Amino acid sequence: MITAYAHTNIALIKYWGKLPGDENLPATGSLSMTLDRFGTRTSLSFTDSSQDQFYLDDTKQSGEALSRVQNFLDLVREKSQKNIHCLIESHNDVPTSAGLASSASAFAALAIASNALFELDLEPTELSKLARRGSGSAARSILGGFAILETDHAEAVNTPLDFKLIVVQCAQGPKKISSREAMNRTAATSPYYNSWVQTHSSDLKNAHRALLDGDFQLLGELTEHSTLKMHANLLAAKPGIWYLEPLTLIVMNRTVELRQSGIPCYFTMDAGPHVKVLCLSEHAHKIARELKKINPITSIDICSPGPGAYLC
Ligand code: PMV
Repeated sequence: MITAYAHTNIALIKYWGKLPGDENLPATGSLSMTLDRFGTRTSLSFTDSSQDQFYLDDTKQSGEALSRVQNFLDLVREKSQKNIHCLIESHNDVPTSAGLASSASAFAALAIASNALFELDLEPTELSKLARRGSGSAARSILGGFAILETDHAEAVNTPLDFKLIVVQCAQGPKKISSREAMNRTAATSPYYNSWVQTHSSDLKNAHRALLDGDFQLLGELTEHSTLKMHANLLAAKPGIWYLEPLTLIVMNRTVELRQSGIPCYFTMDAGPHVKVLCLSEHAHKIARELKKINPITSIDICSPGPGAYLC
């Protein structure tokens, strides 16, 4: 049996939309931070069974959750020429499908574990491509720290700054619509989708440069711009989609107020209601203290850049 662990990552410059085809290639690049908190532990072993069996947090999975994992393992079986089925046992220490990137850590852990079990011997670039087939954002969780995904795999990015990302949970329970479905609907119906794709590469290029140069203000401004542009696109889909809850807006407003009071910090939200606040290490505790005052926020985690996915 092989066990692997991967942390979630949060995109500062978002990917939203897929290219045509079955390779799960993103329509836009992305830039992310892998966290040192939240993640997925996956154990993988061969079984004599004629089907893969998937347990998530000790519950046997069927339907969409099972078929995503089976489809992923079909790719691994094809690559390795080993037609053997698996028992997959995963534990999330992140709420599942709630906009906290559980699919990023899940498929990064599965990619690392299946690479070892099926003796694929893949290098990080190929591992990142493999993880992407399961979930676009998983390609980035193979790597630690900051990662950029411009084409089909993620690459590490160094920065001179000491960042924190404060995860503020604003609701409970899984999201109402999967990111896959929401991406497809946005691409098919939102009048803003083409401008999103067309304007994305300059955001990515400028944010990449800002990260390398340690220009925190520019990176923060582009981070907020990217998330707002993504959510505007979703709102304009037919029918419209919104993941943001009243509490999300309160945390966004408070982040802006804190910034106006002289504490640099910037928000970002994914396909879920939670707010992640980007700041420098020296300000993290003060910001977390202020955000904790918002009622009824109960869960706030200050995260540092974390390691890439690994075998346990
Ligand atoms: O990895 P997916 O296919 O579940 O999509 C992730 C989409 C966002 O989290 C909203 C953005 C991103 O780049 O992670």
